[in-house]
Amino acid sequence: MTLSGKAKLAGVMGWPISHSRSPLLHGYWLTEYGIDGAYLPFSVAPENIESALRALPKLGIAGTHLTVPHKEAALQICDRVDDVAQRIGAVNTVVVESDGTLLGSNTDAFGFLENLKSESDWKSDDGLAVILGAGGAARAVVAALLDDGVQDILIVNRTRERAEHLASEFAGVCAAIPWDRKDDALEEAALLVNTTTLGMTGQADLEISLKRLPTSAIVNDIVYVPLQTPLLQHAATRGNTTVDGLGMLLHQARPGFAAWFDKQPQVSAGLRDFILADLKS
Ligand code: ATR
Repeated sequence: MTLSGKAKLAGVMGWPISHSRSPLLHGYWLTEYGIDGAYLPFSVAPENIESALRALPKLGIAGTHLTVPHKEAALQICDRVDDVAQRIGAVNTVVVESDGTLLGSNTDAFGFLENLKSESDWKSDDGLAVILGAGGAARAVVAALLDDGVQDILIVNRTRERAEHLASEFAGVCAAIPWDRKDDALEEAALLVNTTTLGMTGQADLEISLKRLPTSAIVNDIVYVPLQTPLLQHAATRGNTTVDGLGMLLHQARPGFAAWFDKQPQVSAGLRDFILADLKS
């Protein structure tokens, strides 16, 4: 990588940061588009996140992605936070504006929807969406579905209060149901999304019966290690269209790259293969 004195700079802040695939992903795009720029992993301890973010304009850095554990803290630090990030309760993208102020946004909802739409023919008026989980990822998925006009969402979570809390924020469209009733909830679903960690390599299995799920329903797992989770494998064998979680990771990165490097990047098969190869290594 050769940089000039005019190179544009961005990165990702996390603690730890060594596991992040973001530098690889953005490095791929920088090379693909021949951009004079760099995207760096910043290892930032929680107590340093405010001073690290405040240093961005002083260093001439265009912005940064945020990962665990900084996404919630950044809500209070950024000078402005967009509406989606407010609703999700987390910032994953910070852009330094021309006056040096920090604009926080959340691109997970965008990434989820772009992936779902590019990998399936799902439409917001297809009907009921069933969401497994009620954590940060579920909030992003619910925000995305609501913004796209979905009228009927069921949230199913092991800890019932969390599901009820999330559903109550969007009463009228969202309802919560107990974890042990999830099999029944699938009866009229047009979309099933797993936002829990179940099914991820090293985590417990997601135990769910798809018997009642219409074969026309789309099944989306946001877990991407493994890429074909047991849920997706099972859904595919019974004829459901499946959408894996890697695309959400790739699509959510696009707005930051576009803001910092002045180029709208594409999610290509080549990029998917490149990141997949790294996930398998
Ligand atoms: P994230 O912000 O990535 O969504 P999170 O807030 O830790 O992460 O949420 C993880 C989700 O996986 C939660 O919905 C969690 O359920 P609880 O709210 O009951 O904790 C769900 N989850 C994790 N392990 C689980 C398990 N063994 N059984 C059922 N749900 C589980």
